[in-house]
Amino acid sequence: MTNINNIGVYTSGGDAPGMNAAIRAVVKTAHFYNIEVTGIRLGYEGMINGDMMPMKLKSVGNILHRGGTILKTARSAEFRTDEGKQKAYKQLKRHGVDALVAIGGDGTFTGANKFSELFDIPVIGIPATIDNDLKGTDFTIGYDTALNTVIRSVDQIRDTAESHDRLFIVEVMGRDSGMIAMHSGIAAGAEAVMIPEVKNNLEPLFKRLEESKHQKNSKILIVAEGQEIGGGFEIGQIIKERFPHYDTRVSVLGHMQRGGHASCADRVLASRLGVAAVEGLMNGRTREMVGVRHNDVVYVKLDEAILQPSELDLNLLKIIELLS
Ligand code: F6P
Repeated sequence: MTNINNIGVYTSGGDAPGMNAAIRAVVKTAHFYNIEVTGIRLGYEGMINGDMMPMKLKSVGNILHRGGTILKTARSAEFRTDEGKQKAYKQLKRHGVDALVAIGGDGTFTGANKFSELFDIPVIGIPATIDNDLKGTDFTIGYDTALNTVIRSVDQIRDTAESHDRLFIVEVMGRDSGMIAMHSGIAAGAEAVMIPEVKNNLEPLFKRLEESKHQKNSKILIVAEGQEIGGGFEIGQIIKERFPHYDTRVSVLGHMQRGGHASCADRVLASRLGVAAVEGLMNGRTREMVGVRHNDVVYVKLDEAILQPSELDLNLLKIIELLS
């Protein structure tokens, strides 16, 4: 057992539904074990500027379901510098923080890992990003909610697409990862998906659109924003030129994918990981991410969790082809 008195908790990078559920779990678990919690606002920016306050049970009342993050979030250029990290460490000392729980994605974990190494402060990461692009965990917090938001939207787009016999290109989030595009593509019955992990995918797409010309009245193509040729509008332009007979429209779902009440799966995941993060610190763990593998809680080295590429199963493309 390691003696920990005060855990600093923060959210950093893009927000994700379920971050609040994770904050709540950290605060409640720490309280159960008589450990103080300091909430750090605006991620590493708040750490540098000393924007911190004690968190009591009351601080996390009625937040379990809420999207966004009550601690707010930011990306910090200053924290990448040695001076920035020095300032942050001084502030943590001033507030009596002797361990950290970092809630976020790969950028958050990269910073946490270096910081912990430099100042020998224990840190555990909780994976929270709608992109589901961390290694060593089957799911990240926010991914399930975002997927459900996407398929609800695509179902609605399908209604209008079907009524007008249109081809819709729907752009979803995923700067480096096709997780959202691939899984929403299967769940919404898309004709094809375009993802960053697959290069040169224009010809196969043309072939599919050619073949399915007379099959369905409406067609949905889901494009991950980070795929190599461009986003929804760029693909839309290419398709309009190549298939002028299709009545083509583009819909960019954008940041609505990051908001909304967390799904049941995300609330359960965030609660499990929040408890395990605090208990991990108490058991002397550090520089690890807590995740789930085959429904078991696992700890993975932070530097392994951030390795690219993510674990997207490209065999799923066949399912899209087969079932569309
Ligand atoms: O949270 C991850 C993510 O949603 C990416 O898929 C996307 O590219 C990025 O965040 C956009 O974030 P922002 O607009 O906050 O820079």
